Amino acid sequence: MGEGVLMEAGTRESGEAGKMALLADAGIVVGPEGLVMAGVPLARIAREVGTPAFVYNAEVIRRQYRALRAAFAGVPHRICFAVKANSNLAVLRLMHDLGAGADLVSAGEMRRALAAGFDPAALVFSGVGKTARELEATVAAGIGQVNVESIEELRVLGDVAARLDRVTQVGIRVNPDVTTDTHPYISTSHGGIKFGVPRDQVPAAASYIRSHPYLTLASVAMHLGSQLLDPAPYGEALEKLVTLVAELRSMGVTTLESLDIGGGLGIRYQPGAAAGLDPAALAAVVGPIAARTGLPIMMEPGRFLVGSAGVLLTEVLYRKHSGGREFVIVDAAMNDLLRPSLYKAHHEIVEVVPAGRAPGPVDVVGPICETGDFLALERVLPGVKPGELLVALCAGAYGFVMSSNYNTRGRAAEVLADGGRFSVVRPRENVDDLFSAELADPFATLSDHG
Ligand code: LLP
Repeated sequence: MGEGVLMEAGTRESGEAGKMALLADAGIVVGPEGLVMAGVPLARIAREVGTPAFVYNAEVIRRQYRALRAAFAGVPHRICFAVKANSNLAVLRLMHDLGAGADLVSAGEMRRALAAGFDPAALVFSGVGKTARELEATVAAGIGQVNVESIEELRVLGDVAARLDRVTQVGIRVNPDVTTDTHPYISTSHGGIKFGVPRDQVPAAASYIRSHPYLTLASVAMHLGSQLLDPAPYGEALEKLVTLVAELRSMGVTTLESLDIGGGLGIRYQPGAAAGLDPAALAAVVGPIAARTGLPIMMEPGRFLVGSAGVLLTEVLYRKHSGGREFVIVDAAMNDLLRPSLYKAHHEIVEVVPAGRAPGPVDVVGPICETGDFLALERVLPGVKPGELLVALCAGAYGFVMSSNYNTRGRAAEVLADGGRFSVVRPRENVDDLFSAELADPFATLSDHG
């Protein structure tokens, strides 16, 4: 199981150096006023915006994008940001301005991407259960590519493209049947799971596309899973795709334009862990394999570009000792950051303004009425007091986007910090708005008419 999704009891041995490496990943330095991100003290953001708040570092997002580009400099490639990881318009605009395309899993994400300024041709629509209506909306908008995951979906897409009179570029997402070392919920490439077209059904899918006047087979695609730390499975799976490309070409397919290797590049979550998947190592594995086909690589990273760039800022509400355990109750909860509860994911918790008190083991928990509502269990933290601030690191990917209104909690504010400035790029949700469309007495109006 991958380290990024394993929860480990925090230990003092994990050390100051490990924590400093994680802070550096986030572009955070420690100054006299505590943690400073992109030149902005996090305590100042908490004062002015309140907590809980997600804060993203634009400088780190750019750094990650450029590092990936540099690692793949020798490999023809295109990067499509996986919007599901962080779909705030300000983040999408940054990606757009850096030159990325975008990978979508819903028509809603397309609306966001278009609102952020993306050209529809730079968008790829992935996902295992696209509705006919979503296919219509995306094809009508002139989407760059649709990655299909079943033959039935392909037929619906063919009908939609014909009805709208739009020739559509198609990728077949293949299930390459390789195993990866990550949490089972985010492993997507072995047989017997819902993702991808099984290998033996690919020729039939390709024949359907070839014979369809409105579909063009532009890509074969894969996505192995998320938070992968070893490049080897990419090589193993890409070999299978390359064999498939040869087979498709021998069937007379001449329209392929890319090999889509999906996303999945893992990052560092724990102090003392290695620095995530090295993109240069990935390029060294996939570059030579892809080169045999003469096709460029397309990739869809999410977490790698934004994960380390974000933190969840929270305030300590109370402490209590119960049943031999020490609890730190904070104002952020599982509705804000679900990953610890859902995957037992480790998010390092750090004081915003170090007070220098002696450390001890604590559970960092939220206000929600579930025992599963925690940000960290059995973590060694310096003694913190009510009113003080903490951050959960590595919260830029799959943080806000997975948040909910459970317990009628408004979702947290989102803030972007860049070059000494910050901006609230999504205000904290107003609780009245959460239920303003609900009807307390649904049949009252009907009986008025009846
Ligand atoms: N492409 C496809 C087809 C995907 O399904 C995904 C993620 C990506 C790209 C981007 O993967 P990334 O580069 O971010 O690993 N909620 C989970 C992660 C779910 C990922 C789902 N698919 C988490 O919090 O860890």
